[in-house]
Amino acid sequence: MENNRPSWTSRCSFILAAVGSAVGLGNIWRFPYIMGQNGGAVFLLIYLCLILTLCFIPLVAELAFGKFTKKECIGAYESVNPKFKFLGMLNPLTGILISSFYFVVGGWIINYILINFSFSQITDFSGYFSDFIQNSYAVCVYTLLFLFLCIFFTARGIKKGIEFANNILMPLFAVIMVCLISFSLTLPNAYLGLEYMFKPDFSKINGQMFLAALGQALFTLSIGMGALLTYGSYIKDDKGITKSAYTIILSDTFFALMAGIMIFPAIFSFGLEPNSGAGLVFVTLPYIFAQIPNGNIVSAAFFILLLAAAITSGISILEVDVAAFSERLKISRKKACTMLFGIISLIAIPASLSFGVLKDFTLLNKTIFDFLDFITSSFLMPLNAFVLCIIAGWFLHIKGILFTRSKFLGWLFDIGLKFVVPAIMLCLLYVGLK
Ligand code: PFF
Repeated sequence: MENNRPSWTSRCSFILAAVGSAVGLGNIWRFPYIMGQNGGAVFLLIYLCLILTLCFIPLVAELAFGKFTKKECIGAYESVNPKFKFLGMLNPLTGILISSFYFVVGGWIINYILINFSFSQITDFSGYFSDFIQNSYAVCVYTLLFLFLCIFFTARGIKKGIEFANNILMPLFAVIMVCLISFSLTLPNAYLGLEYMFKPDFSKINGQMFLAALGQALFTLSIGMGALLTYGSYIKDDKGITKSAYTIILSDTFFALMAGIMIFPAIFSFGLEPNSGAGLVFVTLPYIFAQIPNGNIVSAAFFILLLAAAITSGISILEVDVAAFSERLKISRKKACTMLFGIISLIAIPASLSFGVLKDFTLLNKTIFDFLDFITSSFLMPLNAFVLCIIAGWFLHIKGILFTRSKFLGWLFDIGLKFVVPAIMLCLLYVGLK
C-alpha cells in the first residue's frame, strides 16, 4: 500500500502546494481584520516574531511526521503506537469541521465575483451583505458550488488535480495581487495605511494580542489539522524539509503583508475604519471599489484573487480526509470525495444558514458558523498542535539535529518541541476555553 502512494513530481510542486495551503482566506480575509481589531503595527510586530521563530517548530515537526511515516494522519499516529490511532482521527475530524465554515466563506466569494456584472446597481454594501448572507437559497447554492470546485481538483489526484490547480492558481494569485497593490499605493493618502501597518504604538500592547497573533499564525500556516502531515507524506525521501519550511513561512508572511499593503492604504485613503471585523473585505472594500472608475473590474480581480487562494487552501483541507478515507477504507479517491461531499454538505449547509433562518439556533451561545470557527481555531487546532509536538518529540523522537548542522539550534528545537510549544498550546487552549 505504501509503495502505491503518490508523491510530488518535484520539490517545487510540493512547495507550491504547501504555500497554496498556507496562503488562503487566513491571509487576505482574516489577517487584515484581526490586525485591524488588534491595533495594527504592534500586532504585526508580535505576529512576525511568533511566526518567524516559534511556529517553525510545529511546522517542521508536522512535515517530518508525514515524511517519516509516509502515511495519512490516522496511520501516521498508529504507526508510532496503535494506541495513538484515535489521536490521528482528530485531524480528519478537524478538517471536516473547518471546511464546513471555510467553504461557506468560499461561497460568499463566488457571489461577490458574480455581482460585478450588476455592480453599479448596489449602493448600500452593508445592507447588501446582510441581505445576501440571510438569503438561504443563495448561500446554500454558493457553498455547494465552492465545495464542488475544491472536490473536483482533489478527486483528480496529486499530480492532475492538486499540483495542476496550484500551478495555475498560485501564479494567477500573485499577478492579480501585484496589480491591486500598485493600484492601492497610488491612491491619495495611501501612506496613512502604511503608517498604520508599520508604525507601532507600544502603549496598545496587551496579552490578548499575543493569543490572537498565535491563533492567527497556526491557522494561516495550516498547522494542527494534518494538512502538512498529509502533504509531507507525499515527499520523496531525498527532499529536505528545513528549507521548504522556511519557504512556506516566508511566503505566507509575505502574502499576509502584501494583503495588508493592498487593503489598508485603500481603507485610509477613503477615510474608513480598519476595525470593522469579518465584514472588512465584504463590506468595506466593495464600498471603496464602488467609488473608483471601473471599480467593478478591480473588484472582480480582487475576489478572483481571493477565490484562487481559497481553493488551494480548501483542497489541502480536503486532502487530509480524502487520504484518510481512501487509504483506511481502501476505496478510490473518487469514492472518498463523493462521501466527503455528502458529509461536509450536511454540516456546511446549516453553517451557511447561520446568518438567516438558523440564526437563533445556537451551540455554546454561538451560531453554527461561529461555533465551528471557535471549536476549530480555539480548541481543535491548538489541541492537535499540542498532541503533534508531544508525539513527535517524545515518542517519534524527531530531533532538531536532523534539520540543522548547528548543535545549539538543534538543542533549541528539541526544547521547543518537547516543552515550550506544548506549554504554549496548553495556554492557548486554556484561554480559548475560559
Ligand atoms: N491556511 C489556510 C488559510 O490561511 O486560509 C487555512 C487552512 C488550510 C487551515 C489548511 C488549516 C488547514 F489545514
